[in-house]
Amino acid sequence: MSNKAKLKINDSEIELNLIEGSEQEIGIDISSLRLKSNVITLDPGYKNTGSCKSSITFLDGEKGILRYRGYSIEELASKADFLEVAYLLIFGELPNKQQLEKLSNDIKERSIIDEDLRIILNSFPKSAHPMGILSSLTSGLVAFDPSAVNIDDEEDMYDAILNLLAKIPVLVAWVYRRRKGLPLEYGDTSLAYVENLAKMMFQRPNKEYVQNDTIVSALNKLLILHADHEQNCSTSTVRIVGSSYAGLFASVAAGISALWGRLHGGANQAVIEMLEEIQKDGGDTKKFMSKAKDKSDPFRLMGFGHRVYKNFDPRAKIIKVEADKVLNELGINDPILDIAKGLEKEALIDNYFIERKLYPNVDFYSGIIYKALEIPSEMFTVMFALGRLPGWVAHWREMRINKEPIGRPRQIYTGEKLRKFSEINNR
Ligand code: CMC
Repeated sequence: MSNKAKLKINDSEIELNLIEGSEQEIGIDISSLRLKSNVITLDPGYKNTGSCKSSITFLDGEKGILRYRGYSIEELASKADFLEVAYLLIFGELPNKQQLEKLSNDIKERSIIDEDLRIILNSFPKSAHPMGILSSLTSGLVAFDPSAVNIDDEEDMYDAILNLLAKIPVLVAWVYRRRKGLPLEYGDTSLAYVENLAKMMFQRPNKEYVQNDTIVSALNKLLILHADHEQNCSTSTVRIVGSSYAGLFASVAAGISALWGRLHGGANQAVIEMLEEIQKDGGDTKKFMSKAKDKSDPFRLMGFGHRVYKNFDPRAKIIKVEADKVLNELGINDPILDIAKGLEKEALIDNYFIERKLYPNVDFYSGIIYKALEIPSEMFTVMFALGRLPGWVAHWREMRINKEPIGRPRQIYTGEKLRKFSEINNR
């Protein structure tokens, strides 16, 4: 195959290089296009645009493949620990025992949060959405560690990354506990990362904490499944904010805000609310299927469809099995699971969904597990954010190490041409 693409614009022909990835994905390198032709490309929503080269995550939406650094999501979700996956994503290889122990100890050392950040947390109304609080507190961390902004050498970068990995789970637990009216916890450094997260969240002040292995294992899997997903909306946000050298904490705070939306991470909250609405309405799934297909109705079947997966979402397959297992092990019989399964069954044989290649995505079943763990629905996207943290960090680090230029798309201007200013009395 030739490694050139030819583009004909009116009478002139421009030759552009083809770039091939390690999984034979082909991209046309248009970086010289404007210089050669004074023309740009237009691609709202970036459906056909590669924003960077990346060696972190591979995704094949047609075949339903997801791999972190070459390892399949199926294998990682069944065999790995979230901290191992975080190390893999950020530093490129699975850690050996010593590397993992060092990572874990370095995180524990940095897990203390300045007491003054608690004052900021307490100044939010209790009704504030946890994603807004988490994003603000993550930004707030900059004020307590201003040296983490301008970092270029590996050592400072490591320090900033570890600070985030250490402090965000504490903030997640704080946001959750404040919402529940529980005293804030600082964690237990004798425990592993996810065990500690579970204890920080679920410990009660008036009774001895006993770890539930089903809960820890479910959290571990959910965090791994959410850990990275290449250039999605929030990760692209982290990369673009970071490209201005805004610093890691500010970039991740922006990523949290992007994840909040219900077309992205906020879908997990939207799914459970939708399932509850269907249940309250009498459980008629067909009625909601019709609403989803009706173009005059803004209702969409939340947890269905994906920008990239056009066959199935491999994470959804894993999570569906996990939801069954967790509910079984915790002895919960949630009718919402039956509604979800009913909707999935109907959608899989419905022409509207088949034609548009709409399948359940990762968030269709994740909320059912979080609900079984008694986590309130407003917290679901916060859990997603904690899972996505290593991915955001890995992309931010890759972007900085590769010295990528500032992200600054162009546009096709469709507004007014030059007009004469008219004084207010003449308007
Ligand atoms: N219910 C009903 N119709 C849908 C849905 C849905 N969930 N998703 C897409 N469609 C239709 C859409 O109306 C359009 O129809 P038409 O061609 O007739 O105009 C067609 O399918 C293509 O949709 P699109 O919005 O152009 O596709 P997109 O790639 O821009 O959007 C999406 C992808 C995930 C935003 C969208 O499928 C959606 O809104 N899904 C529901 C929200 C959701 O579950 N989001 C979580 C995504 S997975 C977690 C994450 O990584 O963020």
